[in-house]
Amino acid sequence: MNVIVVKNYEEVCQKGVEFFIEQIQKKNNINLGLATGSTPLGLYDKLIEWAQEKNADLSHVTTFNLDEYIGLPKDDPNSYYYYMKEKLFDPLNLSPEQTFLPDGRATDIEKECEAYDQIIKDKGGIDLQLLGVGVNGHIAFNEPGTSFSSNTHEVRLAESTREANSRFFSSMDEVPTHAITMGIGSILEAKEIVLIANGTNKSEAIQQLVEGPQSEDWPITALQSHNHVTVIVDEEAASLL
Ligand code: GLP
Repeated sequence: MNVIVVKNYEEVCQKGVEFFIEQIQKKNNINLGLATGSTPLGLYDKLIEWAQEKNADLSHVTTFNLDEYIGLPKDDPNSYYYYMKEKLFDPLNLSPEQTFLPDGRATDIEKECEAYDQIIKDKGGIDLQLLGVGVNGHIAFNEPGTSFSSNTHEVRLAESTREANSRFFSSMDEVPTHAITMGIGSILEAKEIVLIANGTNKSEAIQQLVEGPQSEDWPITALQSHNHVTVIVDEEAASLL
């Protein structure tokens, strides 16, 4: 595992985006795994800036998101579909055929989960996966206790995760209780993973990842088993190392 400690959030995003730009430029076809939350926003802004400046052709890029809330319509500003469309897909002019997210309004959620894993496989798997981390060490929406071999599945969100994410909603009651998430097993199948984190509230999760024993209590420690992981953190997130 390659751990890169930089000064601040701005540098986390700068270092992180370099991995994405390099791969986008190098490959004829590239499947990117994307994340939501506030951490990736700065990286997405830099990617958009680069693409617009270079007038980059992104027709060879396909994206797969990690997760989606169950029950929110696509036009709900809190759905991850809406977030991705607004923050990245539209500014990059990525078409719906290039961008995949689990459908949180599917009538048969189990079938939707299987279909999502299948489409990723059919498209050749994820080349480069971006990850953030929750305060309790969750990756995507894989909460503590999730099996490291899990595929895409439905989850009940931990109350602490709902609380952390409630800042985007007008009240706690509106925060969905369930989500679809790529499993830890599905995430580990990515050829390369870049995890970004900033701030002291992520320092314990980062400490567990870098120094802790591998344990389902800290989903992030599953990444210890992957042979191509880069962790980019600011000084605050690295403060317990
Ligand atoms: C959500 C997402 C995760 C993300 C986490 C941290 O729970 N499902 O993919 O890593 O939030 O978000 P933030 O970057 O806002 O701290």
